[in-house]
Amino acid sequence: MNQNYLHKMIATSKGKPSEAINYDSFFDLRLATNITLIKNLYFSLYPKKNHTNDFEKLIALLPKLFKSRPIDLKKQDLNRLSEGNWYQSEHIVGMQLYVDHFNKDINGLADKLGYFEDLGVNFLHIMPITTRPKAENDGGYAVNSYTDVDKKYGTKKDLLSLTKKLRSKNMFLMIDFVVNHTSDEFSWAKKAIEGDKKYQDYYYTYPNRDIPDAFERSMPEVFPETAPGNFTYNEKMQKWVMTVFNSYQWDLNYSNPEVFLEMLTNLVKLADLGVDVVRFDALAFLWKKLGTNSQNLPEAHALISLFRMCLQVISPGVILLAEAIVAPSEIIKYFGENEMEGNECEVAYNATLMALLWDAIATTKTALLNKSIRFLPEKPKDSTWINYIRCHDDIGLGFEDQDIYNLGLDAQKHRSFLLDYYCQKLDWSPAKGQLFMYNPKTGDGRITGSAASLLGLETGLEKKDSGIIKTALQKIIMLHSIILSYGGIPLLYAGDEIGTLNDYSYQKDTSKKEDSRWVNRPKQNWKVIDTLVKKESPQSIIFNEIKNLISIRKRTPVFADHNNTILHQYTNPHLLIFERTSKDQRILVVCNFDTNSHFIEKYWLHEINFTLNKKSKNLITNQSISLINNSLQIGALEFYWILKN
Ligand code: GLC
Repeated sequence: MNQNYLHKMIATSKGKPSEAINYDSFFDLRLATNITLIKNLYFSLYPKKNHTNDFEKLIALLPKLFKSRPIDLKKQDLNRLSEGNWYQSEHIVGMQLYVDHFNKDINGLADKLGYFEDLGVNFLHIMPITTRPKAENDGGYAVNSYTDVDKKYGTKKDLLSLTKKLRSKNMFLMIDFVVNHTSDEFSWAKKAIEGDKKYQDYYYTYPNRDIPDAFERSMPEVFPETAPGNFTYNEKMQKWVMTVFNSYQWDLNYSNPEVFLEMLTNLVKLADLGVDVVRFDALAFLWKKLGTNSQNLPEAHALISLFRMCLQVISPGVILLAEAIVAPSEIIKYFGENEMEGNECEVAYNATLMALLWDAIATTKTALLNKSIRFLPEKPKDSTWINYIRCHDDIGLGFEDQDIYNLGLDAQKHRSFLLDYYCQKLDWSPAKGQLFMYNPKTGDGRITGSAASLLGLETGLEKKDSGIIKTALQKIIMLHSIILSYGGIPLLYAGDEIGTLNDYSYQKDTSKKEDSRWVNRPKQNWKVIDTLVKKESPQSIIFNEIKNLISIRKRTPVFADHNNTILHQYTNPHLLIFERTSKDQRILVVCNFDTNSHFIEKYWLHEINFTLNKKSKNLITNQSISLINNSLQIGALEFYWILKN
């Protein structure tokens, strides 16, 4: 039983929340429920011997933070607790976007809510909109403030009005909390540069290379091409500062308890703007320790849990997404392990599924996909995945080498084949991706590109080749069908729903040209969207198919995530087959990654107790589905959602 469960019991113990409710008494109960965990987590990071006073500061801060939470959000928190886990529902479908690339600014976005409603999207992940350095700023991930809106996007008032509007439409908002680092222009960094010792201790700053060199011996590089090493020398401060990402992103020093208190305050202020899901950016990097790779450390998990347990007391309706694009065995830990199971993040990116889908497209085979997801441990019951094809970042080939070896393949060669396939090194490949952070010494690299360009639409349109175009459309739609049916929140990237191609304009922008991830962050094309109803273009085919899949998902309760996805193993190497199941409904999802047809034999359907009868139908076409020659035929790049009667 996790803490969230206890809070639900408390919230519902007095019936449905009413107007006359005493919110403070619920706060007190929540604090009493979490205090032991908070204390244990806190002292595990900041030993009791030296930090009793600091702990008292934290305990004094919590009620203050609660007091300033707006009343309508306090009310929503209690409603959410009594309603159950909204984020596991089949009704949730998300989209990620850059506000300025979508429709100019926050008000422009608010004007387009009808577009999301038409498509069926009701969960938005908007990329950073707070103030940032004018020059390079990693798309806003170098923050000058955690809550001041950059004027290019509008004002805080605009944001508040957007969140209010979203609430009134029962739509959800996710925003980043860049928890690992600030920009070098953040007020703390500025004071540190001026020589203020207090703020130098907010970061990892060193007068010489001794400790940096010791760290470097075991810390990998995140951006080896553009930001090699993990430290940057600041001339004015005359010190080295830890900068794991870019040189202008300074890592926060959480071994300093003041940093935790300040960041908790920032987190709550962000939540108070009406954010429903806080994306904990780069959270794997939160704790640094000499002699380790300083990623995924147990202390980082304790710290995230500590944030979670405090936030739960203040605003229990707000949940956390783990942005941990790490090995599958590590991702699962962000839901909380052992006695902390279910007490860390509620949501995590299913980066394993994402990377494996790209493997299956390039190889037309599902062996690695099937093998690797089968061994992912089951997540805790109150948690869920974000299922996605790609996001604003690169696509890393983050699956385990051992799984590749187990298939009798050479891991190194297999990875270089995938890079070649997607990054225009093979004549026959239709993919138009770019290499990201390629390291010639190790052969490691990542892939960038929009979904449509990676799946061949750009090549097809350039060559005016209807065959390539058709195949690309099938792949685009099939991948979306998987994220919409797999179990979790499907998160589309804005523009992928209309097959938007790569955007090469970043190459002319000095602040962006070194970062090829900008190729996959295209502007929303409203001219194309205006024509969607009028013609049978590739864009309108994609849009309408995805819209149809979304609406079927929402009408089909078994698509809610209750750890009810069963992966089936069948002998055909090109098929992905999984089942969504509940006591009332069963759906078999079958996808063919090959450009030839394949079939599933009747005896096997019988074995999994999924025999087809006259009433069996494919939910997507709403047509009955039957066996031909004792087998279920599945065409090239075709997929089914078969409802069992
Ligand atoms: C996350 C973001 C990425 C950013 C990095 C540093 O990984 O997704 O875009 O570059 O954090 O903040």
